[in-house]
Amino acid sequence: MEPLTEHPPTFLDILNRPLRSLRLSVTDRCNLRCQYCMPEEEYVWLPRKGILTLEEASRLVDIFAELGVTKVRLTGGEPLVRRDLSALVGMIARNPRIEDLAITTNGLLLAESAKALYDAGLHRVTVSLDTLRPDRFMALTRKDSHAKVLNGIKAAQRAGFKGLKIDSVIMRGVNDDELVDLLEFGRQIDAEVRFIEYMDVGGATHWSMEKVVSRAEMLEALTRQYGRIEPVASAGWAPADQFILPDGTVFGIVASTTTPFCRTCDRSRLTADGTWYLCLYAQRGTDLRTPLRAGASKAELISLIVSGWTKRSDRGAEERHELRFREVLVSAEGLRQDPRLEMHTRGG
Ligand code: GTP
Ligand code: 5AD
Ligand code: SF4
Repeated sequence: MEPLTEHPPTFLDILNRPLRSLRLSVTDRCNLRCQYCMPEEEYVWLPRKGILTLEEASRLVDIFAELGVTKVRLTGGEPLVRRDLSALVGMIARNPRIEDLAITTNGLLLAESAKALYDAGLHRVTVSLDTLRPDRFMALTRKDSHAKVLNGIKAAQRAGFKGLKIDSVIMRGVNDDELVDLLEFGRQIDAEVRFIEYMDVGGATHWSMEKVVSRAEMLEALTRQYGRIEPVASAGWAPADQFILPDGTVFGIVASTTTPFCRTCDRSRLTADGTWYLCLYAQRGTDLRTPLRAGASKAELISLIVSGWTKRSDRGAEERHELRFREVLVSAEGLRQDPRLEMHTRGG
């Protein structure tokens, strides 16, 4: 690839947010059934014919990169169930405009794929792990695979990945008694733990405000254990607020439910079938696959994306926050009508 001679343009949306980060869902399938994401018995899957090939996904990423995207995160469903994912990683990693190429995985298949992903050029790994107790893991995910996730984490570190993060969604009465254990675990393995507030996203059909453990509550519980906790100055666009314990341990909290960060949201999402969403909560997306497969030129695709981003005014989490009565976002029936409303389809 030629060395870069010019900076890509910065496109701002209506709230002055740049297009910088793309969450690329590579499959809507998942090998777990986490209660906060996929609590139903049956799901409607995206039709196979519509799933972008690796080459199509990579072509779209290249176009996004020309428009200013520097961060790409591979998501799912569970991204590692997509065959040949490391081939896609290789294609994206070759693009010099992509400064940060990461994956969010549940870790089940990480032990067997970590080395190939590392060799292909993946920069960072975040593993979702909500509990340290195998029986609880089983109740929460409907699979007896806790040990596999731990092995996956070890394998990722052995493969050479640095700066591993652990994402834990905290739910009242489910795992809110594990905050300290999870932090200690993170410290032991040298990974940054991030606690995530249970969010009322599509797919969370059992959500209620009572089950949300707020950032304030989490900090209170951790302060009781560790003493004074200080916020770390924010780097700007990341969804997690970082905090530091008296002994120097840094951890994060993603407080999207009680303290939305929409004003600094620089991300959009592409589903595995090529529908582009401007917000986690958006009801409608832009179909990029049809023009792509119909032979649209690069200029045409660029114009579609630029016109979408420059009209963007989404602030879904803030709007939810402003509601007086907050209930489940989309009913199970609504999700069956349009599976693209699911969190597992638009990439966690
Ligand atoms: P880093 O670059 O490592 O900071 O990644 P990240 O935190 O952006 O990615 P990750 O997949 O680890 O996201 C953590 C969690 O934050 C997700 O699983 C969601 O629960 C939440 N989250 C991610 N993106 C958004 C978003 O755009 N809006 C809202 N409201 N929540 C989000
Ligand atoms: N609330 C918060 N985070 C969620 N995720 C999925 N559903 C929810 C939800 N209802 C995120 C978690 C998980 C990742 C795969 O998606 O961070 O680790
Ligand atoms: Fe961005 Fe929408 Fe999430 Fe707000 S809710 S942070 S606008 S994706």
